[in-house]
Amino acid sequence: MNTVSGFSKMTKDQKIEWLSKQLDQDASELVSKLPVYWHQDEKIQKRFDEFSENTLTNYDLPFGIAPNFKINGKIYSVPMVIEESSVVAAASLGAKFWLERGGFHSKVLSTKKVGQVHFKWLGEKEKLTSFFNDTKSDLLNAVTHLTMNMEKRGGGITDLELVDMTDKIENYYQLKLQAETCNAMGANFINSILEEMAKIFKERVLRDDRFDANEKEVQIIMCILSNYTPDCVVECFVECPIEDLGEFAGNMPAREFAEKFATAVRIAEIDPSRAVTHNKGIMNGVDAVVIATGNDFRAIEASAHAYAARDGQYRSLSTVSLIEDKFRFSIKIPLAVGTVGGLTSLHPIAKTSLAILQNPSAVELMQVMAAVGLAQNFGAVKSLVTTGIQKGHMKLHLLNILNQLDATAEEIEKGKEYFSDKLVSFTGVRDFLKSSRS
Ligand code: MEV
Repeated sequence: MNTVSGFSKMTKDQKIEWLSKQLDQDASELVSKLPVYWHQDEKIQKRFDEFSENTLTNYDLPFGIAPNFKINGKIYSVPMVIEESSVVAAASLGAKFWLERGGFHSKVLSTKKVGQVHFKWLGEKEKLTSFFNDTKSDLLNAVTHLTMNMEKRGGGITDLELVDMTDKIENYYQLKLQAETCNAMGANFINSILEEMAKIFKERVLRDDRFDANEKEVQIIMCILSNYTPDCVVECFVECPIEDLGEFAGNMPAREFAEKFATAVRIAEIDPSRAVTHNKGIMNGVDAVVIATGNDFRAIEASAHAYAARDGQYRSLSTVSLIEDKFRFSIKIPLAVGTVGGLTSLHPIAKTSLAILQNPSAVELMQVMAAVGLAQNFGAVKSLVTTGIQKGHMKLHLLNILNQLDATAEEIEKGKEYFSDKLVSFTGVRDFLKSSRS
């Protein structure tokens, strides 16, 4: 592979041509087919291209809906973007199961987000503290041009504090800003404020007479919002009398199911190895909605997993209780999402997702996402403690394997029938195709 300069200035065709020339014949053929995935509408394609840099084509993922979600009494069809077979099916089954048992009860506990100016300063701490206390309102006033619009919508900066971190890193402090960002995720809002505030803070220290020459220098290390959002949290639960859970696969009675289910969740509370997989199941549902609505799944993932370890050990994000014959399954998860700004209105399908959700506020969207996460987790743990996960998984996975092996429509139908009572494996499907083709 050769190096290249001016790549970003090339057209998409030129980029593809350049890359094709660097590769062996097989790879080159694959790369030269990338234009197949371009959108037929040039305007839409241009927009996709502009979301990122050095774009060659689009990367398609399935977009589906999980209907029948009753959340706080309202019915939703929830858009989901995910490539893993059985996730949408599990969410839909979970939604239907709880629809008949009161639905999901979701409540946002708080919506505060945080940003930090990280800086180093050498001097007497008390001087810096008194300077900060005297200057705090000035600092806040100096950024009103950035906060005005958000304030009109009911948000803005809710707190600013000086944090002494010198016991961890020499001369290291933070300006910690807390904000309400209404229906926006808030990253741009918070980052712009932080950068402006850091500049003003540095200037004010330089001009302040209480500092001697050595103390006038503030070294700004960085200004950035925190994706850890333990104060932007939603709680969601489902509950019903244990006997209303019904009967499960293999004639498993409700009580036995409830106890096995509770033990499985308890295991995820105490064992990080299981907790990671358990929470991965939750995020299967959450991320699918986060992506469908044009939100930042990396931020959501990072925060959720840090939150799962907030007491020092990584644990399950969901809990279950069996009290007085009542089954109650709940989740608490940080979800800093937006329904305005970013991709939410720029990406045509993200915009459609929000329309399908009846244009929710960020708070309502948090409630929906938590419900989908809980439904997903319910579906996964239910399968694990009853039939095992592979049964449902492999049924859908069979189609992926058949497609991977270029099965025709007729072969797919035959394959489904053949494997309806057999264990699905890649080798098994390959052998089946081989023998039916010979
Ligand atoms: C697979 O994507 C997710 C599960 O592993 C989750 C779980 O084990 O709870 C099935």
